[in-house]
Amino acid sequence: MNLENKTIVITGGGQGLGRIMAISFAKNGANIALIDLNEELLRETVGLVEQNGSANTSAKYYLANVSNEAQVESTFKQINDDFNGIDGLVNNAGILRDGLLIKAKDGEVINKMSLDDFKSVIDVNLTGVFLCGREAAVHMIESGNKGVIINMSSIARGGNIGQTNYSAAKAGVVAMTATWARELGRHGIRVGAIAPGVIRTAMTDSIKPEMRDRLVNMQAIGRLGDPDEIAHTAKYIFENEFFTGRVVEIDGGLAM
Ligand SMILES: NC(=O)c1ccc[n+]([C@@H]2O[C@H](COP(=O)([O-])OP(=O)(O)OC[C@H]3O[C@@H](n4cnc5c(N)ncnc54)[C@H](O)[C@@H]3O)[C@@H](O)[C@H]2O)c1
Repeated sequence: MNLENKTIVITGGGQGLGRIMAISFAKNGANIALIDLNEELLRETVGLVEQNGSANTSAKYYLANVSNEAQVESTFKQINDDFNGIDGLVNNAGILRDGLLIKAKDGEVINKMSLDDFKSVIDVNLTGVFLCGREAAVHMIESGNKGVIINMSSIARGGNIGQTNYSAAKAGVVAMTATWARELGRHGIRVGAIAPGVIRTAMTDSIKPEMRDRLVNMQAIGRLGDPDEIAHTAKYIFENEFFTGRVVEIDGGLAM
């Protein structure tokens, strides 16, 4: 898929990777529909897309919670009407609620991951991907558009200390990617996933400095990733017509 004049929906487009992908796709002539919970950030991203995108690019934002079925259904319908179709989706919205499953000292349990922390990450990072992927596919199929869906996974999908909830969600995202590629291929829809290592965004700025240093040291390339490098990976998935059902690991050679 050539991005020129295509409509790409990006969830979590208010900041971070979503924002950088929006700007990058707009530079390639795409129209951008951004979904997020934070209106101020969304407005900023729309401004940046209009400033940096190619001349014909248009951008709109939509306030919605990706884990709320009614909001997702109405938002995708609205986007489909506003842009006269949906060609692509990047399922990018995500949150962290890190913590050990069990924190114990000298045989005594001090803390455990709360059900609330587990569920809130599953709600956004897994159920949100399910709902948005489903609704994008509904409109792609009904309009006869040959679309592309990209799901953001993570290198943590293989398991990571302190991330029971996040790892489970990100592994689920890869399983859904393979399933949807098989189910939706007959409708001309391709589905791919990206598993980034540690990329410089607000999400990773919140990591304690000593932990971030440890992560940098684990990357063969010796630095954090740049958001543009993830946007470049997404562009590759959009453009390569033989790519579907797989996950691209873009992690600087991270060894977890
Ligand atoms: N930054 C990294 O190093 C890294 C690594 C691996 C995977 N990822 C994944 O990439 C994606 C983007 O990461 P980021 O670093 O840009 O994160 P970020 O925290 O900077 O941005 C996430 C955005 O999602 C939005 N969001 C959160 N919950 C939402 C909800 N319920 N509905 C709608 N929007 C919601 C936030 O408001 C925010 O704008 C996430 O899925 C993340 O798990 C990031």
